[in-house]
Parts: sequence; structure tokens; C-alpha cells
Amino acid sequence: MTETVNSRPARAKPALPGRQDWSSWPHYQAAAAGFRGYWYPVCFSSQVGEKPRAVTLLGERLFVIRDRGKVFGMKDRCPHRGVPLSYGDKQFPGTISCVYHGWTFDLETGDLKAAITDGPRSPICGKVTQPTYDVEERFGMVWVYIGDGERPHPIDEQLPEELVGNPAVVGQRIQPRTGNWRFACENGYDEGHAKYLHRTSLWRLFKPMPVWNSTKIVKRGRWIYRVQQEQYWEADFPGLGRWSGTAWYKARPPKRVGNIGNTSSHRKVNPTIAAQEFPGFASVSMPGVLRIVYPTFIHYEFYVPTDADNHLYVGLLADFRKGMKALPFYLKYLGAVRWLFHGQFSGQDKWMVEVTDAPPEKLYRPDDSLLQWRKLAEDTTEERLERLRAQGVEPTGTR
Ligand code: FES
Ligand SMILES: [Fe+2]
Repeated sequence: MTETVNSRPARAKPALPGRQDWSSWPHYQAAAAGFRGYWYPVCFSSQVGEKPRAVTLLGERLFVIRDRGKVFGMKDRCPHRGVPLSYGDKQFPGTISCVYHGWTFDLETGDLKAAITDGPRSPICGKVTQPTYDVEERFGMVWVYIGDGERPHPIDEQLPEELVGNPAVVGQRIQPRTGNWRFACENGYDEGHAKYLHRTSLWRLFKPMPVWNSTKIVKRGRWIYRVQQEQYWEADFPGLGRWSGTAWYKARPPKRVGNIGNTSSHRKVNPTIAAQEFPGFASVSMPGVLRIVYPTFIHYEFYVPTDADNHLYVGLLADFRKGMKALPFYLKYLGAVRWLFHGQFSGQDKWMVEVTDAPPEKLYRPDDSLLQWRKLAEDTTEERLERLRAQGVEPTGTR
């Protein structure tokens, strides 16, 4: 029987608005702790010495250590009784000894070479191998490959193309942050937020910001680009009034739409940057790398999954000038950019990533950027899994 109130038929319960989950992108939905099959920056090279340094990456505990100049990575759990191997130290060159009973592993192969407290001919030796990780160093940082047991692809195939083979001076920032890595990546590539959230940042104080854009997303190679078609610096909102991204103390907005820098600066574009012919100033690629192109430098963000609730924010600024010409970059970076851009501006993003709570979500027109990123992640993962299956490698699955 239909229940009635005041003799009016009861209304059906309204459907919940928007998208309730991310099941349209099953790989993406499952990748709360990150995508396997990639190199991830984990710390500065200068932070890795002769003592083990514990790292959590994609929910896995490992440690990195330097031996005769080279950095090695190994699972941070002693197979004997499960204590962290990173509490141990180096008793013999090329090895790590567990702090508890002195099991000693070869850093290169992971083989148990000695169990010190069982004498030189301990029968356990040769029967235990500790998992190791492939490690590389680039841009003053240590990168670790997390895969499914397959041979890693060369790291240079994964780095932004223009950073490989073009001399650049770089400034980096690494900061552990709260929040899921996908929120961080989506925030980075999010079309709508910069104009509004960041309009109050000191970095943008004297620069105008558009009120809104019309944008299309274009795929080229491994990247998808936000291509700005029209920019509106002021707009009339019916029944509300006028809203403007300009002000008397801000620079005047450019006359035409450009795709270098988010306010289309007129400055001369560095030849290395110009040669890339980027379709748009903001682009993203797997496994969560953002690239923002300015006339004289490029800003990158790597969102490195620590676990499902935490990530490492890695900001990298690259200036493609050479030799002494790069000197002003260092001064500018250390004097201003480091604090204003990597600091306060990016602090606004940090705050939003901490408080984002989705799904459920109800997306709007500018969020095509998010939808296309998720699609890229989904398609790229599907291709990778097919490749693994063809090689007979069983994926570990996303944890
Ligand atoms: S727990 Fe590592 S040697 Fe015993
Ligand atoms: Fe932002």
C-alpha cells in the first residue's frame, strides 16, 4: 500500500546525486596504494649513505643503502623473525646484517651469505634469498622500481622526455603529505581549481587569473594535455553580478590565448621548451606526474604513493639554460620560487588534498580533466597487464 502524507502520494526517495564509486575505472579504483610497474622517487640522493634508510612505497616496507657509491634496495623485513632489516648495519662490504641475530644478506642478490650467530658454515646459508628492488639515481634523487617481478623498463623511458638528454638545472622539494595520492594527482591536473583556489596565493598576487576557460584534453604519446581554447577574465553571473580575475594591482591579461603558462605570458620561450611544441601548458602522465610549462622553466610534480592514506609530494623545477646562464635560476629558485611556489602555493593544494573526500562526487564541466586522467590510467594499466600476461608474469595485484 502506498503511504500518503496529507493525502499526497509519497515521493520516491531521491537518487543520490553523482557518481557513488569509481567502478567505471576498476584499475584506478583498486590503485589506492598506487600503480605497480613504475619507478618512483623516494628521497634525495644525499639522504642515502652507508646506513640503511627505511622507505614505505605502495604500502611496501623497504630500505635503501649505499655501498661503494651505488644505491641498493631491499625488503625491510628480516625473514628470520620479522624485525626491520633497516635497524641493522653493514658488517662486511656489499652486505647488510640484521640487528637481531646477524643474518647477513648480499645487497646485490639478496642471498643470505652468513648467519653470524650460527658460525661460518651455517646450513641456513644458500637457502634464503631476501627480495631486492631495482634502484636508480636521477636529478639528485633515489628512484625505486615497484613491479610484479618483471624486468623494469629503463627509467629514462618513464621520465619526462625533455628531461632526458637536455641539460637542465633543477631545484627539488620532497615532502611527505597526508591524503591519497590520487587526490593529489587529480588536484594537480584539476582544470578549475587553480583560477579560484590559487588566486589568493602570493605567487599569483600580481598576475591576473582567468575566471574560467574552455578547454579540451588532447592525448599525445604518454601524456594528456589541457589545451586552452578560450579564456574569460571577467564574467557576468545572472542574478549575482560581475566577477573578475583582474585587479588594478595585477598585470594586464594577455590579448590572445596561449598554451605556455596559465596566464599566457608574453615572455620569450626558452628554445628547449619551445622545441617540445607542447599542445598545452598542463599535462599529466602515469604513474601520476604533472608537468606545468612556463616560458623559462618547467615545473613537475610526482605524486608518490606511500600507502593508501599518505603520499610523497615531489616537486621539481627544471631550467634548461646552460652553465653560467643558469645562475639566475638558482638565485630566483632559492630566493623566491622555493618558498612562494613550492611552499605557499603548493601548500594550498596540500590542504585541499587532505580534506578531499570522494567518491561520492558530482563532477562539472572542467572535470573532464579528471575523467581523462582516470581513463589514461585505466587504459595504460590494461595495456601493461596484457603485456605481463603475454610474458607469463602474474601481476601481484593492487594492494
Ligand atoms: S630476526 Fe633478523 S637475524 Fe634474527
Ligand atoms: Fe594547485
